[in-house]
Amino acid sequence: MDFKPPFQSITWNDDRVTIIDQTYLPEREVFIDLNSAGQVWDAIKKMKVRGAPAIGITGAYGLYLGVKGLKETTFDSFYSEADRIAEYLNSARPTAVNLSWALKRLMATIYAAKEKPIDEIKEIILETAITIHNEDRRLCRSIGENGLDLIPDDAKILTHCNTGGLATGEFGTAFSVILHAHHAEKLNQVWVDETRPLLQGSRLTAWELQKAEIPFKLNVDSAAAFLMQQGKVDLVILGADRITKNGDTANKIGTYSLAVLADAHNIPFYVAAPYSTIDMDLETGSEIEIEQRDADEVTGFGNKQTAPDKVDVYNPAFDVTPNHLITAIITEKGVIKPNYKTNFEKLFG
Ligand code: MRU
Repeated sequence: MDFKPPFQSITWNDDRVTIIDQTYLPEREVFIDLNSAGQVWDAIKKMKVRGAPAIGITGAYGLYLGVKGLKETTFDSFYSEADRIAEYLNSARPTAVNLSWALKRLMATIYAAKEKPIDEIKEIILETAITIHNEDRRLCRSIGENGLDLIPDDAKILTHCNTGGLATGEFGTAFSVILHAHHAEKLNQVWVDETRPLLQGSRLTAWELQKAEIPFKLNVDSAAAFLMQQGKVDLVILGADRITKNGDTANKIGTYSLAVLADAHNIPFYVAAPYSTIDMDLETGSEIEIEQRDADEVTGFGNKQTAPDKVDVYNPAFDVTPNHLITAIITEKGVIKPNYKTNFEKLFG
């Protein structure tokens, strides 16, 4: 199926990376330039760019921006500076493995080029960042194509958070499956969880669905059980921030609740992700570090305070869905079913 991506959220422009600042959406489409590793760190931390593959891509450009001005003349000192910058970028957000995956890949590329002049190594870093970006574009397209067979005719699909072109190189992961289903005329409509507290569903997924002219309804997160009970959801599909060797999946907070609900209503529950989200170094989801975010995301809504002063808040950004609740994981290499450990080892081991 051949169609164009509705927009590009990350572009490399000679000496800087330009991103759409997602914190302004949906009110305004503001593009900002990031010229240094510090600006990239800040953009990831403040979620101007967010979504697992998108922070991997931006982080990769960030490492190039960080090293390009280095004056180091020996490989060892250049490598150790690059490593320091990679560690710094990686500290922006801990849960999505794509960031550390991209940075590790770049550090391995640097090491492999150790006999080359420093200036050439810098160019190799940029080329690798561009490759990571282009590769993600291709992977997202394949994920969409591979997921299409799982979508029944006239499908009513529930999704959570944002997994579209904003969160990836283009097209998205779960969103790419939705996009492909729409182009194949298999879609009835999408249910969009608003995704408290930062509203990635209502601010971002709804914006992307509108741009792609895909029919959808926005619902509060807590409506999901009622929608399923009424037979209004044929399947759930969403993305991932880190999938461990056994298939346990960290994704936006609320994902686990949806998996339990889907199981209770006998509804298929699909995760869509590229290989860069699969962490073969971790055995199970209990090893995943879950990012805790600021209390004010929960105690206010826009500029309005919605909780008394000084309340204690628990605000994990992600949860972990155990593998037995996941019907299948859609990757660029195909649809993977349990046993995930065995099947991942065959494909990615
Ligand atoms: O905190 P966010 O908005 O970065 O969380 C993003 C998600 O949980 C997405 O579902 C995930 O990164 C997959 S994006 C293709």
